[in-house]
Amino acid sequence: MQSVLITGGAGFIGQNLVHAWRAAEPSDRLVIVDAMTYAANLRSLEPLIADRSISFVKGDIKDAALMRRLFDEHKFTRVAHLAAESHVDRSIADPEAFLQTNVLGTFTLLKTALEAWLAAGTIEHSRFLHVSTDEVYGSLGPSDPAFLESSPYRPNSPYAASKAASDHLVRAYVETYGLPALITNCSNNYGSYQHPEKLIPLMIIHALEGKPLPIYGDGSNVRDWLHVSDHCAALMAVIERGRLGETYNVGGGNERNNRDVVGLICDALDRAFATDASLAPRFPSCPAASGKSCRSLISFVTDRPGHDHRYAIDATKLARELGNRCSVNFEDGLGQTINWYLDHEDWWREVTSGAYKAWIDKNYSFRIAV
Ligand code: NAD
Ligand code: DAU
Repeated sequence: MQSVLITGGAGFIGQNLVHAWRAAEPSDRLVIVDAMTYAANLRSLEPLIADRSISFVKGDIKDAALMRRLFDEHKFTRVAHLAAESHVDRSIADPEAFLQTNVLGTFTLLKTALEAWLAAGTIEHSRFLHVSTDEVYGSLGPSDPAFLESSPYRPNSPYAASKAASDHLVRAYVETYGLPALITNCSNNYGSYQHPEKLIPLMIIHALEGKPLPIYGDGSNVRDWLHVSDHCAALMAVIERGRLGETYNVGGGNERNNRDVVGLICDALDRAFATDASLAPRFPSCPAASGKSCRSLISFVTDRPGHDHRYAIDATKLARELGNRCSVNFEDGLGQTINWYLDHEDWWREVTSGAYKAWIDKNYSFRIAV
């Protein structure tokens, strides 16, 4: 039985990881720490908190005293560190929070884990997993080979630079102090509970509400889409069986450009409305409710500054060493994700009320059609 700290457990990947961990290792004790920023949501965890199968602490990973108290109290033997500011556009509009949480927050957690594990004499049995991103490697040209764990770091956004800095700190703690840590660098996740600021949920929700679908630039940018369930399976394999001090890339093997992703979403919604008569009265502003294609909402807008052209992951090391391969085909996973948003209107209406509206104004009002 392990005592597990999951930071950022109320975020998109964090919530999915908590459920996956609970299902795979029901006897482990899970403690979730989350500062409950705009990106957090506890709805899916509330039943687990209520029946005490997990513990939740609202707290900031930069709070060294709180982190140390939690390590002393719960005697963690596993740390899955996901807490971060995660949205590239927000990092461009306001980078400071990214440096605070992603760099200083990670530093605080590394320092606390090392000190607590040394003091308790448990460092030999403990493992720290730092969850990072493929964005640290920069941008690929159309025919460049996919990112390897040995690819040079070339971050292009403040978000990517802050994650790169945190990766370097993890490495330094391994090399200098012998912290038993590992790093994963993964590609774009998608699936249930993703915040509607990110491409796939944003496009689904805008289409349902009959709002423009804002594709940055010409939409030729490519991402490698990884279903969040495949990502969580990889994280659990790496934290348990990965070689300490190593980095593992995790990718979906699903490279698609943004134009195609948005087109697939539109076509899937058109089909759903054509076959399910209950959708039109629920979403009357969606073009598909009156027999038009959601593609009519597509709008090409001012590009993201420093917009990385292409990410692609070579996940051979993960497969070779840990036998872990991604299994969700993109079209299937996208269909499931669209159904999830259709079935969880209450969830996204709650998330998109209030402060979210101010962000949409800030990020999209200056973008003109191109
Ligand atoms: P998210 O933004 O949905 O969730 C992040 C969570 O961290 C939120 O619940 C937030 O409240 C919490 N948090 C933020 N600052 C905090 C602080 N100072 N102290 C405690 N909690 C804090 O992000 P996500 O998409 O779930 O990503 C999780 C991790 O995976 C991040 O480290 C991100 O960089 C990484 N990652 C994400 C993706 C992706 O496609 N979503 C891809 C690669 C890597
Ligand atoms: O690659 C991993 C990264 O993937 C993670 O580290 C980040 O946390 C995560 O946010 C994601 O970053 P991206 O910038 O790739 O994701 P996003 O959903 O913001 O955008 C995906 C692509 O879609 C990107 O090329 C920008 C484009 N885009 C995005 C939005 C929000 C649009 O064209 N229009 C939009 O409105």
